[in-house]
Amino acid sequence: MRLRKLKNSSEIINNSKYIINNPYEYKNKWKEIFNNSNPIHIEIGMGKGKFILENAIKYPNINFIGIEKFDSAISRAIKKIDEYELNNLKLIRMDACELDKVFDKEIDVIYLNFSDPWPKDRHEKRRLTEENFLKVYDKVFKKDKVIIQKTDNRKLFEYSLYSLVKYGYKIDYVNLDLHKDVDDEITTEYEEKFMKETPIYKAVYKK
Ligand SMILES: C[S@@+](CC[C@H](N)C(=O)[O-])C[C@H]1O[C@@H](n2cnc3c(N)ncnc32)[C@H](O)[C@@H]1O
Repeated sequence: MRLRKLKNSSEIINNSKYIINNPYEYKNKWKEIFNNSNPIHIEIGMGKGKFILENAIKYPNINFIGIEKFDSAISRAIKKIDEYELNNLKLIRMDACELDKVFDKEIDVIYLNFSDPWPKDRHEKRRLTEENFLKVYDKVFKKDKVIIQKTDNRKLFEYSLYSLVKYGYKIDYVNLDLHKDVDDEITTEYEEKFMKETPIYKAVYKK
């Protein structure tokens, strides 16, 4: 579901202290942006930003970058995040297909939370766990690659499992009803909405 665009979304985005407006200039220089060599975790499709914000607050020794392609979502995230003073959080408005133009072997962990499922076969290439995206992720990860996925969509979860394992990832953790077992999970906006109605699937993949 696409969010309605906020009236002043461009202004909100341009004025945010968290937005990196020219991310392509920082390829290979993200240490300089954060002024340290701490690990970098990115969330692709961060939506309204709850997950990345709460992670940045809880883990000050990890640098977090939220990636989101739509103004409508990122401007809502900024309205929430701009109230905080965090040195370990940045946001980028971009399509994840271009991640390799922005990062060069600098990323430790990628979170894919409630990614759009794109159920039609003809839209397979848009799924964030499709092979072409995995090739892009290969270029941005450091040596060790970690993808952490959460979704309520069983078909996307099954597809991702098949796609990632076929590509060489190993399953490090899997849970088919996350909130039945775990109660200290940092949730996303979508997760809060759906966890009452349906099981949430989580997997950690490593390569
Ligand atoms: C279903 S929403 C989930 C939002 C959030 N992760 C959550 O769980 O509440 C998926 C988000 O991913 C974003 N997205 C989808 N494809 C993307 C891409 N290729 N690059 C960046 N963002 C993308 C969408 O704009 C949308 O905000």
